[in-house]
Amino acid sequence: MEQKILIIDDEKEILDIIEIIIESEFSFEILRADSGRTGIEILKENSVSLIISDYSMDSGTGGEIFLFNKDHENVPFIMVSGGFLEDYKELEDFRKTNPLNTYIQKPMDEDFFIESIRKSMNDEADLLSTSEFRRLKIDHVLTFLKTNKDIYIKLSGEKYLKIVHAGELFEKNQLIKYQEKGEDYVYFKKPDFESFVKEVLSKLNKSILGSINLSDTVTLGAIGYEFVHSSLRDMGLTNDHVDFVNSLVEKSVSSLMENKEVEILLQSFFHEKGYLVSHTMTAIYISFLICQKVEYTNETSVEKLVFAAIVHDLGISDSSLSQIIDRDSKEFEALSGRDKKDVLNHMFTSVKLLENFKSIPNDVENIILEHHENTSGTGFPRNIAANRISPLSAIFILSLRVSHFLYFNKLSTSGQMFKKDLEENCNKGNFKKPLAALLSCLEKALKSS
Ligand SMILES: [Fe+2]
Ligand SMILES: [Fe+2]
Repeated sequence: MEQKILIIDDEKEILDIIEIIIESEFSFEILRADSGRTGIEILKENSVSLIISDYSMDSGTGGEIFLFNKDHENVPFIMVSGGFLEDYKELEDFRKTNPLNTYIQKPMDEDFFIESIRKSMNDEADLLSTSEFRRLKIDHVLTFLKTNKDIYIKLSGEKYLKIVHAGELFEKNQLIKYQEKGEDYVYFKKPDFESFVKEVLSKLNKSILGSINLSDTVTLGAIGYEFVHSSLRDMGLTNDHVDFVNSLVEKSVSSLMENKEVEILLQSFFHEKGYLVSHTMTAIYISFLICQKVEYTNETSVEKLVFAAIVHDLGISDSSLSQIIDRDSKEFEALSGRDKKDVLNHMFTSVKLLENFKSIPNDVENIILEHHENTSGTGFPRNIAANRISPLSAIFILSLRVSHFLYFNKLSTSGQMFKKDLEENCNKGNFKKPLAALLSCLEKALKSS
């Protein structure tokens, strides 16, 4: 008989993902509970070999389940939480109660998680066969599969039939038909399965980071690139400006958070400390400085630019690709075909994220779509010339150039050259006015550096 394992979390998506990880490695029967209280009910009626529970839940915490288990079967317990074990009074003797108990702090590492299950089961865990195929519940495939992979059904013994071919149009209906015929599982070859689990896990880690504290984040963003900050100060950015712009960022981020998909992307975005978040925030501050000096802009323009900036690279699947600006650069040339495609299309993916938001001004979408165009008309996706790029896009494109420069260079050493380059190449069409504004800021900064 299969051993039973009880998993408890108040977020369905996390339960799904935990189930996928467990099913990928072990053959347990999995019981699910969406609250501490339901978890205890299940424990009263079932004997399980292991409990995996989130700590913070509205209806019955992980602590309550721990105490119940301690007084009853005292089976191994894996507690997952964002806090520290020492902070929970009722977990004082968590490790002593059962030497196989494990405490996992979020964000959790998948290998550690699997290892903890194996250890908690005292190495009695029933490992899946060494077959080259791995099973996956059709329900989970329908929820999580994003990229095309070969999908098989099991005929008998080790005989499998390919029902979906990677690279062909995949329609969920195909799988639903098999489900209606009574199939619970489909099968993937091991490497495909592993890449699927990886995709899902990165999603898990994004969602278990919990909701972020916006004011912390914005400040953190500012501290995270202090070296850029001193240049921005030299360009004329004051504390009041920073406060004002940060409040606009918070406003945009909280309205974007209303959409689950965007929320997950934003959480990982703000938790990363690299180029992606830094160049975005810097570009926002520079756009603001330019708007201060260009007569056709107003507060709404700044709001639109802030909103567009936050979303502009959210559609990129690998954050390091956000560093590629030009399609005729060495960096672009060196990319794999798939990455090239990703770079060339990310603005469409980003704009698509806004589909579910009502009342987003067209300008915002336009800024996002045009952020890789340039004054010489060699940009992408449309190759449009400087007079056809919208004025707000022109502000944003210039801001991105400067923020990219500031991330990799010092104004004091190569600022003059950079400024000259802008003067020579960008004084065209709708770029003229914002360029003049930007140059005056740079001038100021170069004098003080
Ligand atoms: Fe981009
Ligand atoms: Fe960007």
